[in-house]
Amino acid sequence: MATGEVHSQCAGDSLSVPNVQALAASLDVSTPIPERYVRPETKLDPIAPINQIELPVIDLAKLIDPTFSKEEAAKLHSACEEWSFFQLVNHGVPDELIEGLKADTIEFFNKPLEEKMKYKLASDGTLQGYGQAFVKSDEQKLDWSDFLYVMTRPIALRNMKFWPTSPSTFRDNIDRYSLELTKVASFLWQYISKNLGVAPEVFEQIFKDHPQGLRFNYYPPCPESDKVIGISPHSDATGFSILLQINDIPGLQIRKGGEWVAVSALPNSFIVNLGDITEVLSNGLYKSIEHRAMINTEKERISVVAFHGPDNSIMVEPLAEVIGNGKPNFGSMNYQEFMKMFFDRKLEGKSMVDMLRV
Ligand code: OGA
Ligand code: NI
Repeated sequence: MATGEVHSQCAGDSLSVPNVQALAASLDVSTPIPERYVRPETKLDPIAPINQIELPVIDLAKLIDPTFSKEEAAKLHSACEEWSFFQLVNHGVPDELIEGLKADTIEFFNKPLEEKMKYKLASDGTLQGYGQAFVKSDEQKLDWSDFLYVMTRPIALRNMKFWPTSPSTFRDNIDRYSLELTKVASFLWQYISKNLGVAPEVFEQIFKDHPQGLRFNYYPPCPESDKVIGISPHSDATGFSILLQINDIPGLQIRKGGEWVAVSALPNSFIVNLGDITEVLSNGLYKSIEHRAMINTEKERISVVAFHGPDNSIMVEPLAEVIGNGKPNFGSMNYQEFMKMFFDRKLEGKSMVDMLRV
């Protein structure tokens, strides 16, 4: 299963399910959690004995600075190869903007349900709006979270109907944040392409206009937090995703060496993870690894994830420069077909990377 619906025009219909924030607010300690949210598999999967690990730290200012660039680029390469996840510090996005976006996000989720429902998830299959993850059947187990998803780039694809007008600064902060992240993304692609031995223009072309969607995740607290999952295990169907924790409650776990490992992040750093598209482009040198979000007993958790996908017209296939004299580990598929299959297969637990593997 995967998230990362940058281009989501072909998602089909999702069944409507309860608002989790409202459900959580209605529970008291003596009420059992509704069966559809109880996930016995959380007990079966091995969890790393250590409480939390810190992800590799990549410093964007150093990456750009000629004095440190070579050394930092080498760190980036090993973080991509060994972890697929890293923290990005000195990313250049102004603190004032991040603080504004955080305040607006918290205020939005704190609004009454009727207000949030003005932006209700589209039933037309575009997956934009406020609601819950894709639901196809009445038996399907449900995630303990709500989200607001908006497509931010290319600008022509924005549907302002889903952009909250209140708090009054929210739209502008989303717009500014989206633009700032395109600058971060440009730098990252530049150094990733260098590390892969690919001309920068190749990645510039693939990620032209920075197709991007923002997903604001809201995880209510749950008195029996060990029984529920905030977001089910998945990999992102993106080039990469850039996550910002809106409040400093941890909850993200990544699957490393067969175990779930809880990760922490430095305040105001971004957590970057490589997605399925990058795994295929890099011929599997970089992986798109599974991750999930877990729930806190007492406190809500909020994150915003920016999905950075490729241009609609590309072929998803290993790059010739990376294959070199070796052999391709993946077949080839056009991106629109890729996303269509991604949505069709969404609930069958198989990733697109596995689909394309030869
Ligand atoms: C996602 C995701 C994790 C988190 O939205 O794709 O993996 O910690 N979120 O919110
Ligand atoms: Ni994800």
